[in-house]
Amino acid sequence: MSETITLAHVSDVHLSPMPGVALRHLNVKRGLGYLNWRRHRRHAHHRAALDLVVADMLAHKPDHIAVTGDLINLGLPVEYEAATAWLNEVGTPQDVTVVPGNHDIYTSLRGDPGIARWAAYMRADAWGAKYVPPPPAQFPFVRRLGPVVLIGVNSAVETPPFIAAGEVGARQRAALAALLPQLAAEGLIRVVLIHHPPLPGQAPPRRALRDAEALAHILAAHGAELVLHGHNHCDSHMDFARLPETGGGNIPVIGVASGSIARVHKNEPLGRYNLLRIGRVDGRVHIECATRGLETGGRSVGQIERKLVT
Ligand SMILES: [Fe+2]
Ligand SMILES: [Fe+2]
Repeated sequence: MSETITLAHVSDVHLSPMPGVALRHLNVKRGLGYLNWRRHRRHAHHRAALDLVVADMLAHKPDHIAVTGDLINLGLPVEYEAATAWLNEVGTPQDVTVVPGNHDIYTSLRGDPGIARWAAYMRADAWGAKYVPPPPAQFPFVRRLGPVVLIGVNSAVETPPFIAAGEVGARQRAALAALLPQLAAEGLIRVVLIHHPPLPGQAPPRRALRDAEALAHILAAHGAELVLHGHNHCDSHMDFARLPETGGGNIPVIGVASGSIARVHKNEPLGRYNLLRIGRVDGRVHIECATRGLETGGRSVGQIERKLVT
């Protein structure tokens, strides 16, 4: 693999159509979520829109694809199965990396494996096996792509109805604080994948990462070359400034909109994804980001923006 890789980033595909909810799977959160889907989101997320976006993404032959959560909606067994089939269409576990979103860890179903069905997409590769946390922990995991290392973080936790908050938790934060300097010492370009926006203030409290401040502290202290996230269903790019005493420089934090919006919903744009070129030029980290997505009318995919990130 060359010193530059192409990483496609897609998120929040919220696969549709939504099946009915069996009575045995019904609880307050799932019932309210189902009503919300029927009234609002089912008019926004369409499989046909997602299929166009994914076809364009695959046509660009990225070296790897990152999927940052919210593959499904209500955490139903049939949804997990549909998402497994969709992932298999997108690529093999060697070519696709997944981290879960809040809708993927919605509310537990006794005895159901849930996101464990996607485990092959959410684990360290052979190179990263030496960084695997002790069982039963699975996150953060690492995967190597030439000069790049992907660091998969889980921010999804079960929450009460109307709450879409997330949490990385003390164990993962401690693991990250140990991992990030180790990976930097190996000269790798560290790309963190997480569903929730990682910095304080990037989402309102009921949708935010509860320990964003603590996570930002770790990122400031140990650095990363890029953070990719979803959850907000809109594009964003923030440069998180590290203090001089923690190394200086910026960490680009890039959020991608939903991959499956077929009709503009609130402030959420039509389905899109990012195509990132990540590598080194003259020894310096070089990252470009092209946003591609559905054009007006929703029948074709084109380039929306292209920019130099760092
Ligand atoms: Fe989402
Ligand atoms: Fe989300």
